[in-house]
Amino acid sequence: MYIGVDLGTSSVKCALADKDGKILCSATEEYPLLIPKEGWSEQNPEDWFNAIKKVFVALSEKADLSKVKGISFSGQMHGMVCLDKNDKVIRPALLWNDQRTVKETDYLNKVIGEKALIEHTGNRAVTGFTAPKVLWLKENEPENFKRVDKIMLPKDYISYMLSGVFATDVSDASGTLYFDVKNRKWSAFMLDILGINESQLPKVYESYQAVGKIKPEIAKEFGFSPDMKVVIGGGDQAVGAIGTGTVENNTASISLGTSGVVFVACEKFFDEKKGSLHSFCHANGKYHTMGVTLSAAGSLKWWSETIKEKDIRVLMDEIKDLPTDDLLFLPYLSGERSPINDPYVKGTFMGLTLMQTRANMTKSVIEGISFSLKDCLDVINNAGITVKKARVIGGGTRSDVWLQTLANILGITVSTINTADGGALGAIILAMCGCLEYNSIEEACKKIIKEEKVFTPQEKEVKTYQAKFAKYKELQGFVRGFYNEK
Ligand code: XUL
Repeated sequence: MYIGVDLGTSSVKCALADKDGKILCSATEEYPLLIPKEGWSEQNPEDWFNAIKKVFVALSEKADLSKVKGISFSGQMHGMVCLDKNDKVIRPALLWNDQRTVKETDYLNKVIGEKALIEHTGNRAVTGFTAPKVLWLKENEPENFKRVDKIMLPKDYISYMLSGVFATDVSDASGTLYFDVKNRKWSAFMLDILGINESQLPKVYESYQAVGKIKPEIAKEFGFSPDMKVVIGGGDQAVGAIGTGTVENNTASISLGTSGVVFVACEKFFDEKKGSLHSFCHANGKYHTMGVTLSAAGSLKWWSETIKEKDIRVLMDEIKDLPTDDLLFLPYLSGERSPINDPYVKGTFMGLTLMQTRANMTKSVIEGISFSLKDCLDVINNAGITVKKARVIGGGTRSDVWLQTLANILGITVSTINTADGGALGAIILAMCGCLEYNSIEEACKKIIKEEKVFTPQEKEVKTYQAKFAKYKELQGFVRGFYNEK
């Protein structure tokens, strides 16, 4: 058996599977999110580890853990965990969604320059990445900065606590902005800018590599075999993509969660030059690119709460046979990450008339979210990667209307898959590969993950939406100018 740990922002989920990837049981434990000031977002690494221990106890009540051959991880990305020389956590971790680093991010993009950042790391800076967090610590908590002996990412802390090995993987390291993605190693150029050195950073592995074995005392405490392997795992997006089988060159997955992600697996380093999308290492030994739209299903949730119709199914039913019209919605309710990287842009409805009802507005919300995903996909297509279909995961997959609209707007086939375990399943597949249960991640994915519902683009609708997308881009340009001027 294998364990996949999905270390999220609100909870940790551990799933136990047999060698065919069949989930036998799982358990979840929540932990608090600390918001000491507006825009700040922190968590105590000790809370993650205590939650995992509780989950291990829950699993041990359901299964014989001595049969587990390997464990691996899918981790919330970009977070900064700092330990002192006695391995004590110095301060709560700054998380991926922490927004305190606007100044540091501006410094990196404008003073060091986007061009140099892209040349050395493959990416430009966004507030969520780890490098601006390191600069923030240096500037604002110099006493803490001086004590830093080890800097690691959230899942690496867990793997360190379980195995005693100070390690990370290429996919998660990609989101630090001090990692040279193309060459899969730490960037000396960036370490110099940040004032840290490589001895403070973990050794970098491929995501499917075993870094060691479980510590004997932990094996004893929970009934694991002392031979159980700890496989390093990866960042939640790359591991989630493994969990959807997005591993072959130019295949895509789309996540319709609170935020939306277009993820494309690439054989080679994705070099778009402008850094409009993230260019990261994939967890299968290759590369990937991804675009993140910050308010995807989050926009629909906001809309349903605003009009006091909490049941999304009712809203989807209302738009089932509704034709599209001139009404446009920009889903920038919390600014936008990809491809425009604009924290100042705002959400917008444009084109309202007396004839329209809430159904027209719901439809335009669904379309607007799908347009923002198309905006990312277009960057990928323009860079010469032809994406023909995508597997879709997340809450949005519950709506056939949305999936058909998405297929029509993107002009590609979209499908759902036979599992909702995404991150945990991806981590299980990495654990299996680290323990040589399968020869390759591709082989494991083919065996375990299957497509379910398929939505093909409808020609007439595709044409209509191409014209509407041109309007969307025009409005995007106008709204960006409007709010950036103020
Ligand atoms: C990826 C990203 C999120 C976080 C939180 O860039 O910010 O996926 O890892 O889940």
